Formats: sequence, structure tokens, C-alpha cells
Amino acid sequence: VLINGAAGGVGHFALQLAKWKGAHVIAVASGAHAPFLSELGADQFIDYTKSRPEELVHDIDLVLDTVGGPDSKRFLRTLKRGGAQFPVLPGDFDEEETVKLGVTVSSAQVRSNGAQLAELGRLLDAGTIHVAIDSTFALTDARAAHERAARGHIQGKIVLTVA
Ligand SMILES: NC(=O)c1ccc[n+]([C@@H]2O[C@H](COP(=O)([O-])OP(=O)(O)OC[C@H]3O[C@@H](n4cnc5c(N)ncnc54)[C@H](OP(=O)(O)O)[C@@H]3O)[C@@H](O)[C@H]2O)c1
Repeated sequence: VLINGAAGGVGHFALQLAKWKGAHVIAVASGAHAPFLSELGADQFIDYTKSRPEELVHDIDLVLDTVGGPDSKRFLRTLKRGGAQFPVLPGDFDEEETVKLGVTVSSAQVRSNGAQLAELGRLLDAGTIHVAIDSTFALTDARAAHERAARGHIQGKIVLTVA
């Protein structure tokens, strides 16, 4: 499994869930996140500021792209036949190309699911997955939280506390 944007809010959970399921995980992020992602269990790390992951890997079963956008289709060539790509934002994919490559592309909007949340709760309690906290702000300081988010390079989640 290749996870693009692996250090972010979505990516760091995806990495841990993929490891829980026994996958070999390749994490793509900027260089400063390498130790963090290794601690979370990444088997390989690619610094996207130094190399292009789509030129380094192949025969991937699943690409989870938390960055998405028009550039997401470059990962198609890393998939094996029968592989799947999941961009968190719908991208610009050519159906003819995906059929020719024998891969599937799908995306979905997150929605709450009691059974899945209960399972995640058990995984958190058991220490199988962890929440990494990038930074914490009081709800009344939500503006600063947005400013933090806008600076990018998030590692984990931003937390708002309610007094
Ligand atoms: N479909 C859904 O239901 C759903 C649900 C939740 C979120 N989303 C969307 O998913 C996206 C990610 O959300 P998030 O909460 O994980 O965001 P986030 O916490 O800001 O994480 C984004 C991560 O991507 C990395 N990144 C930025 N540019 C990159 C690049 N070119 N290549 C590789 N990594 C890059 C950033 O750090 P570095 O650049 O330092 O590596 C950061 O760690 C957002 O667009 C959000 O709207 C969709």
C-alpha cells in the first residue's frame, strides 16, 4: 500500500490501519516526517521533495492519495493489474486509461458509521492505533488553528479544546 500525504490527519490513520491489516506500507511525505512515519510502522519512506514516488515504485495493490487533485493520476502507473487507487478528492481520471491498465479508481465522502467508530475505539484502546497531535488550540482560538492548518506540513491532527 502506498499512502501519499502519509503524515497528515487522514494519512497517519490510513498508515496505521494498513499496518494493522498486515500491509507493506510505503509512506510519501516531506522529509521532516520520516522518523514519525517510521515510528508509526511505515516500511518505506519517500520524500516527495527529493524524488517522484511514481518513478520509484511499481506493483502496488492500493494507492491512497490524501493530497489528490489533477496530479493524482500519475500514481496509476505504480499499480499492478487489479490494483486500486483511492484519492480523497475526486480527480481527473481517464476511464479508458484505467480500463487499459486493469485498475480501479474510486473515492467516497466520509460519513459516520457507529460500527466502524466502535471498532476504531477498540483499536485506540488497545494501542493498535494512535492519534498523533500536531497542535492544540482552545475553541475560542479557532482562528489560530486555521492559520496553523494553512501553513501546511501537518503531522497528525489539530485539536480544539472546549472549556
Ligand atoms: N473524502 C473524504 O471524505 C475526506 C475526509 C477527510 C479529509 N478529506 C480531504 O483529504 C485531504 C487531506 O486531509 P487531512 O486532514 O489529512 O489534511 P492534513 O492533515 O493537512 O494533511 C495533509 C498532508 O499532506 C502532506 N502533503 C502536502 N503536499 C503534499 C504532496 N505534494 N505530496 C505528498 N504529501 C503532501 C502534508 O505534509 P508534508 O507536505 O509536510 O508531507 C500533510 O501532512 C484534504 O483535502 C481533506 O479535505 C477528504
